[in-house]
Amino acid sequence: MNPPSQDSLTPTERRWRELAPPEAAASARGLYERVALWSSGNLPGVDAAYDPLREQHWAYAALVADFASHLPVGGVEGRTRVLDLGPGDGWPSISLAAALPGSAVLGVDPSPRRVAVCRANAARLGVGNASFLAGDGAALPVADGALDLAVASHSLEECADPEAAMRELARVLRPGGVLRVQSQVWALPSPEMETVTLTEGVDSLLFTYARRTQEPARERRYVLALPATPEARLAHTEALVATADAPRAYGETLVEGGLATEVLERLAPFALASSVVELRRWTPSWLAEALLAAGFREARTTAHPGDAARLAGRGMIALGEDAARAAFEGVTADLGARVSREAGAAMVTAVR
Ligand SMILES: C[S@@+](CC[C@H](N)C(=O)[O-])C[C@H]1O[C@@H](n2cnc3c(N)ncnc32)[C@H](O)[C@@H]1O
Repeated sequence: MNPPSQDSLTPTERRWRELAPPEAAASARGLYERVALWSSGNLPGVDAAYDPLREQHWAYAALVADFASHLPVGGVEGRTRVLDLGPGDGWPSISLAAALPGSAVLGVDPSPRRVAVCRANAARLGVGNASFLAGDGAALPVADGALDLAVASHSLEECADPEAAMRELARVLRPGGVLRVQSQVWALPSPEMETVTLTEGVDSLLFTYARRTQEPARERRYVLALPATPEARLAHTEALVATADAPRAYGETLVEGGLATEVLERLAPFALASSVVELRRWTPSWLAEALLAAGFREARTTAHPGDAARLAGRGMIALGEDAARAAFEGVTADLGARVSREAGAAMVTAVR
């Protein structure tokens, strides 16, 4: 790992480096390996059956249909092969495998804990055509030209070396193979943001401080792991109470520097481990350019079916439960396939 950059540290970052010098970590080890469930156990279609009465489930189902609709015709030796880069707890791989029963779907994630959760979820749901391996996007355990379709949902931007992962994706897709990517669109509401989260980790309590900057487009995420002793738990709970009234952004608590430092001072004496993950952030247009440079023949930005599906769901739910249930599958399949072909600046399709 390269050491995190030293430029323009916030007062909280400076204090963190004094009180609990952080080890530079890749995101899989520093973040995803530390939590029992990445998605808090509520992934539509994986942790819970689709519920047509919930708008968000319309968005998830449409996105699976979007990914599935990008499977190109043909296939190597009669069976199509699909890769999900960084599946987390099995999304979209498990839903995609269910939607494409004639395909073998492989999820590759560097975090052994995530791989174990993916396997357990696929087994629980009886999805036999999804398998999972521990591995890095920058060194995929897949032969040249072996895949028809690759998908990445909020994972390519988590790679320490995203360009290397893009070159690998170009290597493993066959000519005419397609890559479909959902990634963050880096557009902060202010030039810079600081957030904290206080959560349960695996055998530990976690305190996270994230500093996001628009220019350079970057996120540095510090994690302190505390033992689950009564004293540490009390301090952790008090910190949670102290930050409870602050506004939220990105599902986290927005802080002014002072509050984050206060919490850090209180929790640092308990620290079992301290790490920092530094990631570059980008926009779909940057990604499309980078994919062309990585060896894709074609790369374009497109619309995202999520909002249209949520709106359609809202309309059907307003018409009543029977109408929502009857429309769910057809409407999400149609929107997934159709909206993903529209021009936009939310997702990326690349062809090998
Ligand atoms: C934000 S989660 C997304 C999970 C899932 N795709 C979803 O949309 O719910 C990012 C995932 O990328 C994985 N990841 C991190 N670095 C990676 C790398 N170098 N290669 C492949 N996956 C990676 C993480 O371990 C994590 O499971």
